[in-house]
Formats: sequence, C-alpha cells, structure tokens
Amino acid sequence: MHGTVISASILNSDLSDLRGTARKVDDSGAEWLHFDVMDGNFVENITFGSSVLKALKPWSDTFFDVHLMVNDPTRQVKLFAEAGADNITVHAESRCDLRAVLTEIHRLGLSAGIAVKPGTPASAAMPYLDLADMILVMTVEPGYGGQGFMRDMIPKIQEFRAAAPDKDIEVDGGINAETSKLVREAGANILVAGTYLFRAENMRTAAESLRGI
Ligand code: DX5
Ligand code: ZN
Repeated sequence: MHGTVISASILNSDLSDLRGTARKVDDSGAEWLHFDVMDGNFVENITFGSSVLKALKPWSDTFFDVHLMVNDPTRQVKLFAEAGADNITVHAESRCDLRAVLTEIHRLGLSAGIAVKPGTPASAAMPYLDLADMILVMTVEPGYGGQGFMRDMIPKIQEFRAAAPDKDIEVDGGINAETSKLVREAGANILVAGTYLFRAENMRTAAESLRGI
C-alpha cells in the first residue's frame, strides 16, 4: 500500500496541450496521472483511448493510472498496457468476466483496480478484492469532471478500509483541500483531483493542500 498519492486527472485540463499538462503535473509533485477513459456507452461522454496515453508516455515521469469507464474492458486492457499504463481500474458494473480481466491485468505486469459507482454497494466489489491492488470509490457520478463531492460516500470508504487494511483506496470526484481531509480520515490514500489542481494558481501548493500539508 502506498502513502498518500495524488493522481492528477487530465479530464479537465487543457486538452489542446497535453504535453504541457504532463510537465505541469510532474512539476507539481503529483505522483500519478489519471486517465478517464469513457466509451459513450457506460457513460454518455467519450474521451480518449490508448493512443493518446501512448503519445503522452514519453513526456511524463509519472505513474499512469487508467480508469476505464467502458461497458466491456476485456479488449482494452492489452492496448492500454502496451501504451504504457501502470495501473488499470475496471468498474464492478461493467459487463465482462471481472475475474478474468483482473487476472489479465496482472498477467500483463500491471497493478489492477476495481471501481464502484456511487449507487453501487461495497458488497459488489468484495468478491474481487483478492484480485485487486486498489479499490476506487467514485465520489461523483462518473461522466464529467467538476462535480460536487458526495459526502454520503464516506461510509463506503470506511467499509472498504475495514475490509482491506493493506490495499490502496482511491477516491475520484470533487476532491479539494476540504474534502481530501474527510476522505483521508475515512481511509483513502490515493486522491484523484482534476478541477481543483488545474484551476489552481499554483498546482504544487494545491497538491500539497490535498496531502494536508
Ligand atoms: C469522473 C472522473 C473523474 C474526474 C474528477 O467521471 O472519473 O476522474 O475527472 O474530476 P474533478 O476532480 O474535477 O471532480
Ligand atoms: Zn476517474
């Protein structure tokens, strides 16, 4: 399990300048880059695929954290692994053989995560924890950046922390200086932040505030 890690979500960054974004994130001290992959089906929006990640890989020293919001991730994991992903997270609600997909992510040499939407109980992910290095608790409805943090997700974070004391717990959506404190206290250690980091005047100071510094 990692200490507190900041995973900067590029979703709400300037998408016309991803290379600049990668540089800024490296300079900010955020350890991970978070890629929100959406297929226009699992969620309404369509974002980017493995080719965008591959193009960015030479321009960043960070760990590439891929969040697959797609109906069927089965065919995507190999492509993202080849493109340079370091972690791939799949949703418990996706339509696939989850055990097979998580096993395949590990076979490819990557870390694997299991994600749950706000309406999905922790129990939906529990049967897969033996195959997951990380649990992602969505703290907004997946689809868009810039939404408000759902406080009622705190008990779910606590529930996962109690069930998996040694695993990484990632939170995603509406994370800022105030909400990061709540989720850290509940047991989360990987903090995804998009809007808060990219709107900040000083991204390094903003990243530090998420760590409680
Ligand atoms: C929502 C995405 C989040 C989003 C977080 O579907 O999974 O990663 O980018 O963005 P903010 O930090 O703006 O809530
Ligand atoms: Zn995400």
